[in-house]
Amino acid sequence: MNNKPIYILGIESSCDETSASITCDDKILSNIIAGQDVHERYGGVVPELASRAHQQQIIPAVAAALEEAKVSKIDLNAIAFTRGPGLIGSLLVGTSFAKAMAMALDIPLIEVNHMQAHVIGNFASRKQELFTPPSFPFLCLTVSGGHTQIIKVDSFLSMEIIGQTMDDAAGEAFDKTAKMLGLPYPGGPEIDKLAQIGNSKAYKFPHPSIPALNFSFSGFKTAILYFLQKEKKADPDFLSKHMADVCASVQQAIIEILLDKVEKAVRLTGIKNVAVAGGVSANSGLRKALLEKQDKNGWTVNIPAFEYCTDNAAMIALYGYHKFKAGVFTTLDITPIARYPF
Ligand code: KG4
Ligand code: ZN
Repeated sequence: MNNKPIYILGIESSCDETSASITCDDKILSNIIAGQDVHERYGGVVPELASRAHQQQIIPAVAAALEEAKVSKIDLNAIAFTRGPGLIGSLLVGTSFAKAMAMALDIPLIEVNHMQAHVIGNFASRKQELFTPPSFPFLCLTVSGGHTQIIKVDSFLSMEIIGQTMDDAAGEAFDKTAKMLGLPYPGGPEIDKLAQIGNSKAYKFPHPSIPALNFSFSGFKTAILYFLQKEKKADPDFLSKHMADVCASVQQAIIEILLDKVEKAVRLTGIKNVAVAGGVSANSGLRKALLEKQDKNGWTVNIPAFEYCTDNAAMIALYGYHKFKAGVFTTLDITPIARYPF
């Protein structure tokens, strides 16, 4: 049997992070993430600016990933890239780069679904020997700026969405609330920071009643808008006086909405292994609440390191490694897709 290590270059460019990573088998050797400050002044990602920034950043990001990993490009066994879902112009940059490099090096190309890769982020580690990954089957709450899903994961390459949002994603609920509060983009981390010094019981926000394991955040967002309008009418200084309490209460409500459905999913499937993925899984309140469930409800909870929660190429390379082992490759005529179902 051939036991030579497998080196994969992963490329992520679905939204506003240009990222490149090198893995050796299932170990992360490097994970370079170049953000894009250009969107801050617009309060959200501007697609055209995102693709331009990816073009500027992708070559330095790949070079830095190889250098940090101390791997030469001629040692690479395959290139994995995000095919979708995401912004089409941004995806095109990563896809075209991956195709060109795979062709130049004459190595296989592996396409990766960004949302499935977020789940695989739970297996990402630089020190495999000290790390306990989730065991199959497990449930994964994937919460990002564009998605909110509960996924039943049977193996690396077999996953099924068993619940999802009908409208806004949990990350959007954070970002849009932050915008209403006058906080900078992306709002999730800002709300998280302020929530840590606020009282989460100060205000109550409604929990939508949505069937099965699905979610909805659009009514929630409107409820916050009306709440803020009412309070600011009564006291124009309301926000400056109560910002931290509002942040803590909004965050608490989002966490409760998410965890109510995860609890229901655990009951329905009988699976008590619970993992979390996507940018919102960086939220400190959500992480704490999940660990409380581990203690109180007997769940086995897996929370990825911060670096592997928000968009990153390590999860792409790692998912690529599992596809490589299964012999699942793609051809050079592949194109990105903005809406990429499981
Ligand atoms: O997965 P991700 O990096 O990109 C997408 O694929 O969408 O997720 C980005 C989302 C944003 O909505 C951002 O506000 C949110 O993750 N986020 C957070 C935190 N860090 C990032 N939300 C709440 N608390 C955080 N600490
Ligand atoms: Zn993402």
